[in-house]
Amino acid sequence: MDLCYSVSEIQEYLSVARRQGLSIGFVPTLGCLHVGHEALFEAAKKECDVVVGSIFVNPLQFRQERYECYPRDLENDVNVTEKAGVDALFVPSIEEVFPETVSYGALFEWQGSVFERSAGLFVKETTQAGLLLRAPSGLTEKMDGGLHPWHYDGVVTVVYRLFQIVMPTHAYFGEKDPQQLALIARMASEYQFAINIRRVATVREKDGLAYSSRNIQLTTRQRESALDAGNALKRGLSLLNEGERDAGTVLSLMQTELNKVTGLGVEYIGIVDKNHLSDVDVVTSDIIIYLAYTVDGIRLTDNLIYCV
Ligand code: PAJ
Repeated sequence: MDLCYSVSEIQEYLSVARRQGLSIGFVPTLGCLHVGHEALFEAAKKECDVVVGSIFVNPLQFRQERYECYPRDLENDVNVTEKAGVDALFVPSIEEVFPETVSYGALFEWQGSVFERSAGLFVKETTQAGLLLRAPSGLTEKMDGGLHPWHYDGVVTVVYRLFQIVMPTHAYFGEKDPQQLALIARMASEYQFAINIRRVATVREKDGLAYSSRNIQLTTRQRESALDAGNALKRGLSLLNEGERDAGTVLSLMQTELNKVTGLGVEYIGIVDKNHLSDVDVVTSDIIIYLAYTVDGIRLTDNLIYCV
């Protein structure tokens, strides 16, 4: 596997494949790779001639304190990607991805600023951090975006930059993060990237808990609470499978279940359209039941997709 630290290294590596007209599959990650990430590499391997992964802890999508303590384990990430048959791993520095930022602090300073979003389009804003993409309010104002409005600006900005650098033919994202997926698909379409955005189903541990880099922080008791939260989602899905169509009824059943769980704080629970993320009252199209919660302060998310 080729380890590329700079934009010129990865572009030089890919130039041969590009000249030969080969398909290039791209899997962007924050590193600290787990089995959930492996599924994305596997999907890319199946469909593409060349597979590129990236490990980049993106400062734009985290508050500075969280950015600085985000877990990093490059040695393990290299092992995992090598085993997965990844051809090149792009591990850029901040300067490579955001060359025009005026300072390290500027990468975080814009996060508090108020910005009037467009309802349906991405808007480019020039900041001290460099060019920033502001995500449309229609896709950001609910779910996690409602809680942390700037977070997805940081996500789409970095993915836009990575797409411009890698120029893949396919890019892979997990259904574990449905709002991120919807925003990236919309961004790729608005800016006419010739990239197939592929969705990969959520991978779960044996007991059903969705893989996340935070799972290792949970004690046995906290893990049980997280599993109970997952069971509440499953109850909601069963109700839909039995024919219930009223989203309010499904949500209140889930809420009752969630209220019984020890140490659980619900940050967001909702039923939204799978593609537009708009709130749904009556389920007539494919939807996502999405849950963001904390167990004794550890933040987790999970979701289930229901197809009509
Ligand atoms: P990260 O959290 O490292 O996740 C990278 C990719 O792995 C995302 O597409 C995410 O949805 C997927 N993923 C994580 N857990 C998964 C699971 N249990 N099953 C299936 N897929 C899973 O998401 C990010 O990084 C960043 O925001 C990024 C897109 C890289 C931009 O910085």
